[in-house]
Amino acid sequence: GFQFSLMPWQGFGDVKQRLPQAIIVGVRKCGTRALLEFLSLHPDVCHAHGEMHFFNSESRYQLGLDWYRRQMPASRADQVTIEKTPGYFIARRAPDLIRGMNDSIKLLLIVRDPVTRIISDYTQVFTNRMKRNDSYAAFEDLVIDSRTGDVSSLYKPVWISLYYVHYMHWLAAFNRSQIHVVDGDALIQDPISELRKAESFLGLRHVLSRDNFYFNETRGFFCLRKGANSHCLHPSKGRTHPNIKPRVLHKLYRYFKPYNEKFFKISGQYFDWTE
Ligand code: A3P
Repeated sequence: GFQFSLMPWQGFGDVKQRLPQAIIVGVRKCGTRALLEFLSLHPDVCHAHGEMHFFNSESRYQLGLDWYRRQMPASRADQVTIEKTPGYFIARRAPDLIRGMNDSIKLLLIVRDPVTRIISDYTQVFTNRMKRNDSYAAFEDLVIDSRTGDVSSLYKPVWISLYYVHYMHWLAAFNRSQIHVVDGDALIQDPISELRKAESFLGLRHVLSRDNFYFNETRGFFCLRKGANSHCLHPSKGRTHPNIKPRVLHKLYRYFKPYNEKFFKISGQYFDWTE
């Protein structure tokens, strides 16, 4: 992309807070934090700390675009500012509000096997309840409607995993070319290949490489390296999932199949989301 070159006397005079030129809009539990942290290893990427919830919360949005801008890190003109709020994906007004701010913005959408995503979502809520010594329903009782025996689309994690339904609302506001879909399962196994695609989409030079990652056997995930510093994602990322009865899994995979196929068709990308 076009870059301003700095005159020597300008120094860092153009360092200021800018509205994001790219947003990770979801999907919750698909690797949104990993994607943001991985991309931030790039010298031309600046990211907002924390989730902004600006376009999915009426009271936040009322604070105005100047407030939003002031939450962003200072950046140079040649850097890309990114924020991530997974809640945007299912927020019906978010696409229009984001387009209202910048109709040429770049959107990143990270997805993973929708059944794994539900289990991950359940595990997060379950873990938080256990920390407060609360009890929590069994996975099967939430996911399956006991009266009909069918998958319960009223259970929010099931609803969120209907990627096709939500993605349609984004396509109503943006060109497909403005929404880059990242494969969350691939990002776990082989971060570099997904990051190279994201670099291209964001108009960044290709600098992220194997040197930026090392596999941590204890965590079972890749961790990050920047110069002499290294760190893994927060321990809440990469939790052990409970075992789910094959009968329940089978029902879920059968339920999601038609939605997944519609999502592949309209996104132009295919994923192996089979049992
Ligand atoms: P699990 O904890 O269910 O395994 P999000 O940040 O959107 O909440 O996504 C969390 C998920 O990111 C984790 O789900 C994990 O699978 C995934 N993830 C991807 N890369 C990771 C990494 N390098 N370290 C830890 N978790 C990673």
